[in-house]
Amino acid sequence: MSRYLALQHELARSHKTWLVTGVAGFIGSNLLEALLGLDQQVVGLDNFATGHRRNLDEVQALVGRQRWANFRFVEGDIRNLDDCRQACEGVDHVLHQAALGSVPRSIDDPLASNGANIDGFLNMLVASRDAGVQSFTYAASSSTYGDHPGLPKVEDAIGRPLSPYAVTKYVNELYAEVFARCYGFASIGLRYFNVFGPRQDPDGAYAAVIPRWTAAMIRGEPVAINGDGETSRDFCYVANVVQANLLAASAAAGARNQVYNVAFSSRTDLNQLFAALRRSLASHGVHYAPGPVYREFRAGDVRHSQADIGKARLLLGYAPQFDIAAGIAAAMPWYIAHT
Ligand SMILES: NC(=O)c1ccc[n+]([C@@H]2O[C@H](COP(=O)([O-])OP(=O)(O)OC[C@H]3O[C@@H](n4cnc5c(N)ncnc54)[C@H](O)[C@@H]3O)[C@@H](O)[C@H]2O)c1
Repeated sequence: MSRYLALQHELARSHKTWLVTGVAGFIGSNLLEALLGLDQQVVGLDNFATGHRRNLDEVQALVGRQRWANFRFVEGDIRNLDDCRQACEGVDHVLHQAALGSVPRSIDDPLASNGANIDGFLNMLVASRDAGVQSFTYAASSSTYGDHPGLPKVEDAIGRPLSPYAVTKYVNELYAEVFARCYGFASIGLRYFNVFGPRQDPDGAYAAVIPRWTAAMIRGEPVAINGDGETSRDFCYVANVVQANLLAASAAAGARNQVYNVAFSSRTDLNQLFAALRRSLASHGVHYAPGPVYREFRAGDVRHSQADIGKARLLLGYAPQFDIAAGIAAAMPWYIAHT
């Protein structure tokens, strides 16, 4: 039996309390759905900066009234230490997801990204440490690899950051390490690589590529590729990210105070992605005829990205179940129903 399956059985028998920050966002709401599905108690913290009430409503509808009663929502801001302390009360495991995502957003407004991603992160560390939580797992980012040319990316070889967002996520890792050294508070950072799946926001200037393109194809609008289309990414379906978080929360002491790549460990370029989304839509009877429109490369973007996930496999027992094709197939009905 895989470690994840064994953990799911174990969790279903025990009732732990989890705090998911950023719970109204894409990844946070998927964590909420999974945890409530395992009969866990969940506290959620969010200020709706980029998240939506509709994501919480959708999870409520999916898990049903009985399980929804195990959820307590704190509308609050991680930049406010009191909000963080209130959310941490009685919590066993923290899954800290709240942040302002997006490289371009951080280039447009570095102060906002710094406030949520660094000040907010530090508040969450302090509140979690003081509340005596059993584990603290946080959303780190593949952007931390910056200009390091090595492929696949291994955790201990990083380059210089290419954006304010990348700085904030790297500072998270530095603070996490210092909290282990100074206070014996050992956390786990998960460096996500281009996550996609249901409830990822398709709209707005900072939308991620898969929901943005899929929505554009469904609406019959143009799809723009930044650059020549050979930029590549390690696209990771959200269920793999949920798995990594749950495994991290239950990790042995020797696996803590570490960062791990969380991806599928494959590389897909943007031209291939365009073709895969078009094919998947066609299998649902949605036909998109135009080709993509090529435009300038985008500032701050790395050219290629692919993760080595050996460390997470070895120390966390991470075994991603969805490759990009399976992820697109799983997510497509949601995209179609919500566009
Ligand atoms: N989606 C990806 O591909 C990806 C890749 C690497 C890292 N990450 C990280 O994963 C985490 C979740 O990302 P996501 O894709 O779900 O984004 P998202 O924008 O859907 O979710 C983030 C949530 O955090 C909330 N939030 C933001 N600032 C807040 C604040 N000051 N106080 C309280 N809540 C706040 C937002 O309202 C939102 O609900 C983020 O930390 C992000 O940086 C995501």
